[in-house]
Amino acid sequence: MCGIVGYIGHREAYPIILKGLKRLEYRGYDSAGIALYDGNDIKLSKTKGKVDDLEARVAKEINTEGTLGIGHTRWATHGVPNDVNSHPHYSNSGELVIIHNGIIENYEPLKQELETRGYVFKSDTDTEVLVNLIEDIKKNEDIMLGKAVQIALNQVVGAYAIAVFDRSKPNEIVVARLGSPLAIGIGEDEFFIASDASPFIEYTNNAIYLEDEEMAVVRRGKDVKIRKIPDDSLVDSYVQELQLNLEQIEKGGYPHFMLKEIYEQPHAIGDTFRGRLLPEEAIIKMSGVEDNMKKFLNANRIIIIACGTSWHAGLVAEYIFEDLARIQVEVDYASEFRYRNPVITENDVVIAISQSGETADTLAAIKLAKSRGAFVFGVCNVVGSSIARETDAGAYTHAGPEIGVASTKAFTTQITILTLIALRMARAKGTISSSDFRHHMIELEMIPEKVEIALKSDALVSQIADIYKNAKNFLYLGRGYNFPVALEGALKLKEISYIHAEGYPAAEMKHGPIALIDENMPTVVIATKKGHYDKIVSNIQEIKSRSGVIIAIVTKGDVTVKELADHVIEVPETLECLAPLLTTIPLQLLSYHIAVLLGKNVDQPRNLAKSVTVE
Ligand code: F6R
Repeated sequence: MCGIVGYIGHREAYPIILKGLKRLEYRGYDSAGIALYDGNDIKLSKTKGKVDDLEARVAKEINTEGTLGIGHTRWATHGVPNDVNSHPHYSNSGELVIIHNGIIENYEPLKQELETRGYVFKSDTDTEVLVNLIEDIKKNEDIMLGKAVQIALNQVVGAYAIAVFDRSKPNEIVVARLGSPLAIGIGEDEFFIASDASPFIEYTNNAIYLEDEEMAVVRRGKDVKIRKIPDDSLVDSYVQELQLNLEQIEKGGYPHFMLKEIYEQPHAIGDTFRGRLLPEEAIIKMSGVEDNMKKFLNANRIIIIACGTSWHAGLVAEYIFEDLARIQVEVDYASEFRYRNPVITENDVVIAISQSGETADTLAAIKLAKSRGAFVFGVCNVVGSSIARETDAGAYTHAGPEIGVASTKAFTTQITILTLIALRMARAKGTISSSDFRHHMIELEMIPEKVEIALKSDALVSQIADIYKNAKNFLYLGRGYNFPVALEGALKLKEISYIHAEGYPAAEMKHGPIALIDENMPTVVIATKKGHYDKIVSNIQEIKSRSGVIIAIVTKGDVTVKELADHVIEVPETLECLAPLLTTIPLQLLSYHIAVLLGKNVDQPRNLAKSVTVE
């Protein structure tokens, strides 16, 4: 939520910051702003709307000279999206300017206190309170900006990644982090500041990722020194070499990131299991699992915590773990788990799933589980993310950057990792025979080429999308392994096309949703051959006899459902437990095409943000 960018060095800051904001727009896009400093004057421009709107406004409003600057793209938490609430925010004197990603929870009492001292607030934001708190401390104690920031941050409760500079200090930007990500790119006599490395990847491969409660005064031409906010102690900073490349964060000829990411799935799934799935040797190699095998084998149960699409991947994993490794599994929304006083013991293994690795609720749930003695294993995509660092061990999905707000390749790669863990555990427990183990490995290895085949349904799916794009409601049904896929299909449609959709276990339909069925409501049924096929066929008949319209996802060569359904989309045959990796593909494409046909902003759907760093 919210993207922040900053630059200090020898180049013009504006083009770097503007491009950086465009790359970070997936994090929030209801307003944007920029502040540049040319050594004499601060030039600030901000607006409700997208970074393109900001660019147009800047062209009219300010001259863009300056080698120091900060920029922000916002996902509103305090105060509606409008020009005034957009960042950057000035302090009352106009001497300090700040950008902020996060929430200051105790901003109300701090604001009241500052008001009694004569401070006036133009916006409804918590951020304007923070910059004035810093100003107040700096003025009263007559100290440098860095020190004032440190004292102020010790008074705030909440989460932040901030960048702030002072009109009287043309050579420094102060940055700090707690709960929201912040990277410092290190170039030759220049520094880049950003929520992730994408804004500066073409300038440097070296970056420091601040840890929670760390801050730095980034000075032109000087080394970066990192300090702990609570006690001001110096920290040994670790300069990481970035693995990201420019191609990964550009659209590469696709009209949208979402489509590019849907099409990347064969590769992404392959990258997820490369070096880990070794069918010829009959081995699954995952160091995070191997090193902690005792924990997995002694576990009474596995608790999976996640949000949104990652939670759906967790639901698929529940079936896989129970089926293959014969262990009890619970899957919980991180947001419910963290506030529910859950029963957790030292014999529980908690698996936290998160694409971004920054989701606030998942992070809080991990901390709770750890505090109660559980071993927590992370499944993340973003390397070095907060969740990857907070968990006791983990495995990366290696899906590459996912930029479209609607998660696609994250889902299938998460399922891939979880399948590997379940298989490894099953082998160690002896709940799977060696021939079955090999068979599963061989089938998993074939998934990328089968996803490739599933993607060939694109043109057909696009025609179906055209027929049903004006429907007001959709129902998605699946059973067993395909039930979470139905939930995921419905979520994809809701979030990018704004059409109401519900996912349901097919058999539950007759306990309520069947009342909704009529000729105007399409039902998407996942009816693959293995797993409750006959039952699903009965469910389809029930819908047809009530004039319902059926779009069915079937196994290649299906005959029965083909006769009943209005439209069928085929996917290749695979093992029942691997079916979600294929059945999800046409559902992603369906939501994508409907959203495009309706003229929606596919990559940046309204009200959503890619990483939800607030609860
Ligand atoms: C849906 C979507 C969200 C995320 C959820 C969790 O397409 O993207 O539902 O899945 O916000 O995010 P992560 O996986 O980053 O924790």
